[in-house]
Amino acid sequence: MYHKNIPDNFPPNFLWGGATSANQIEGAWNIDGKGLSDADVVKKADNHRSMSMNDVSKESIEIALKDKKGQDYPKRRGIDFYHHYKEDIKLFAEMGFKAFRISIAWSRIFPNGDEKEPNEKGLEFYDNVLSELKKYNIEPVITLSHYEMPLGLTLKYNGWADRRAINDFMRFATLVMTRYQDVKYWISFNEINTSSWGFHETGALEDGMSEQAKLQMRYQAVHHQFVASAMATKKLHEINPNAKMGCMLARMQVYPDTPNPQDVLKAQQMDQQNLFYTDVQVRGEYPEYMNRYFDEHGIKIAMEPDDQQLLKENPVDFLSFSYYMTNVVSADPEKNKQIGNMAMGLPNKYLEETPWGWQIDPVGLRITLNELWDRYRIPLFIVENGMGNLDKVSSDGQIHDDYRIDYLRRHIEQMKEAIKDGVDLMGYLMWGPIDLISFSTSEMSKRYGFIYVDQDDNGDGTLQRTSKDSFYWYKKVIESNGKDLN
Ligand code: BG6
Repeated sequence: MYHKNIPDNFPPNFLWGGATSANQIEGAWNIDGKGLSDADVVKKADNHRSMSMNDVSKESIEIALKDKKGQDYPKRRGIDFYHHYKEDIKLFAEMGFKAFRISIAWSRIFPNGDEKEPNEKGLEFYDNVLSELKKYNIEPVITLSHYEMPLGLTLKYNGWADRRAINDFMRFATLVMTRYQDVKYWISFNEINTSSWGFHETGALEDGMSEQAKLQMRYQAVHHQFVASAMATKKLHEINPNAKMGCMLARMQVYPDTPNPQDVLKAQQMDQQNLFYTDVQVRGEYPEYMNRYFDEHGIKIAMEPDDQQLLKENPVDFLSFSYYMTNVVSADPEKNKQIGNMAMGLPNKYLEETPWGWQIDPVGLRITLNELWDRYRIPLFIVENGMGNLDKVSSDGQIHDDYRIDYLRRHIEQMKEAIKDGVDLMGYLMWGPIDLISFSTSEMSKRYGFIYVDQDDNGDGTLQRTSKDSFYWYKKVIESNGKDLN
């Protein structure tokens, strides 16, 4: 009888670390030749339950373009990683990070997106960041596109809605993958499935469009991203056959509201809407259930003759994903609502939630890891997981974030269980190891970090960095390779 040894802990080369994106940390939006990106024209949301990342229109861009100070656009200032990267990376090294995920701001390299020559000053910044990581033996994980593209391309041809974006993207991707060819891990598009939510991922404005026209445009944009991702994978393997390209999914595990088969079916269908993206990027072809969905929604994807072969021949090497919450759905559409910011469905009475309404579900992570492994059989990589919360500086000047330690501990315990179940898990990159600007609300007060940054929602503060209690806890976790979670 075949019996594989059950691992009792994390593999020795497990990639512990943290993840960020350029537009949420760098700041320096108008320095050293950087052009504006889509993220630079997004305002802060009004409250915890709303989202502002897609409140962008032609009119709001015109207003944003006139605002030279940028006070109302928090992603322009980030946490000024641009000038603090040495200090920040030193702190990550102190925690023992094995890997650190960044993204390269496309508009720092090609300010308008369509230049022939890159902005050398922008490249120098990433040269410096990467050599700083090398100094501490921290493996970089680079996302090529994390929720931004040059605003110039949005204005020129409506971003990813237009096939021309593929060529402009490939000029950027080829350049950085060649210049940084000793980087082993790359991710093409962050949370590619959120393209179906709109602007922040497609870079396409939707002024005056019907719901059906929006859907049509979003899925066409996704197709262009699939093609771009496959081309980038092909190119990366030509540049460095040892380098690995990953796709990246915002994993939303779905539970049915009841055992009523109608609810179970609904949950499966919602899950398919999530797994469609990895089905294409891992298996290399559009799944049949999606063809039915397109048919029923009057969506027609324009493809060029070689697209399908390109997708088939260039699947990704690993599947990376973010995991924050699970959703409950009902077959009764009246019941399904937005229950928190980015959370859809119904409240799950078995789970607690964060102040932003994200339901905390560590066991769901084990379920998801098993499902993804069963379905795809390629290495999995958790490249985002963490807890956004309202941290307080105590009278002793410290930040006692035991709730964050508890959240992370419970998720890591479940990862360990999944590894025992046989899942091939490459690593764990906690989201937002240093406080940063929230993606969905552009708030600073939604803090994830092991490191506190003294800056408020208006951008006031000294930017001083302070290690929270969770900093010392994570250091122990890494030192013990996940054995010591106390
Ligand atoms: C993911 C994104 O959706 O979740 C990150 O890839 C983002 O960019 C993270 O920051 C957490 O979301 P938020 O809205 O709390 O910042």
